Amino acid sequence: MTETISPPPGSRPDWTIDQDWARYSDAEHRTWTRLYERQSALLPGRACDAFLRGLDALDLHQGGIPQFARLNEQLGKLTGWSVVAVPGLVPDEVFFDHLAHRRFPAGRFIRDPHQLDYLEEPDIFHDVFGHVPMLTDPVFANYMQAYGEGGLRALGLDQLHNLARLYWYTVEFGLLATPAGPRLYGAGIVSSSAETVFALEDPSPNRLGFDLLRIMRTPYRIDDFQQTYFVVSSLDDLLEATLRDFAAIYQCLRGSSDIAIESVLGSDRVFTSGTQAYARSRVAQ
Ligand code: PHE
Ligand code: FE
Repeated sequence: MTETISPPPGSRPDWTIDQDWARYSDAEHRTWTRLYERQSALLPGRACDAFLRGLDALDLHQGGIPQFARLNEQLGKLTGWSVVAVPGLVPDEVFFDHLAHRRFPAGRFIRDPHQLDYLEEPDIFHDVFGHVPMLTDPVFANYMQAYGEGGLRALGLDQLHNLARLYWYTVEFGLLATPAGPRLYGAGIVSSSAETVFALEDPSPNRLGFDLLRIMRTPYRIDDFQQTYFVVSSLDDLLEATLRDFAAIYQCLRGSSDIAIESVLGSDRVFTSGTQAYARSRVAQ
């Protein structure tokens, strides 16, 4: 079990804070608008329809940084989700508990204009632009709630390291198969201009069919573009694959080793067998 850490001063017991929208500076609003314009120009034809539909439905464009109160009226009507402000990363059990109750914890701060592309901690652009459009999709909305419930369970079973990989390779870096080719739904990709292009168009990374057990055995990168992306055949299939009881899967995983991050296995459904040239060039630096 993880130890319980208490929230920082000024936060509520569930770690939420007020968004305090009036305190954003004009420069901060301009940062949002720049990022919004850049990504919304890049994403048609690259992001999946569910994401683009959500982006349209939410109106994240008027007046700079969105006001959570207004956003939540729109989002609540669509799927019953809401966004709550938090001071930064929160403990796992707090995060999962919010998700299990259809609340998405979002950072309140926005990145510095000198660091538009590099982020150590998720900011409001990643959290809101990246994550919230998909929460307007009823199936994905259910998946995220189920993930929160599953996270609480995994914590109790001491299996979070395996389950966290599922979050990473779906919610953050997932691709969705369409007749026109893979499209993006992962928040870590759609909130990054460079990875938006890399994930779909670069010959370096592998693009492999979604496979629950395989994903839970695959480590991931937190410091650079992914070496492998996983492609789900539909959001319904993603939800269905995760509705089963993971206790048996965790049992199975206890006896199996990790799969090297760049490997393509004989059992993989291969969309792209990557050259890994990009990853190699970074090691050589
Ligand atoms: N079905 C999983 C379990 O039994 C929970 C879960 C659902 C996990 C959806 C992730 C995503 O623990
Ligand atoms: Fe995220």
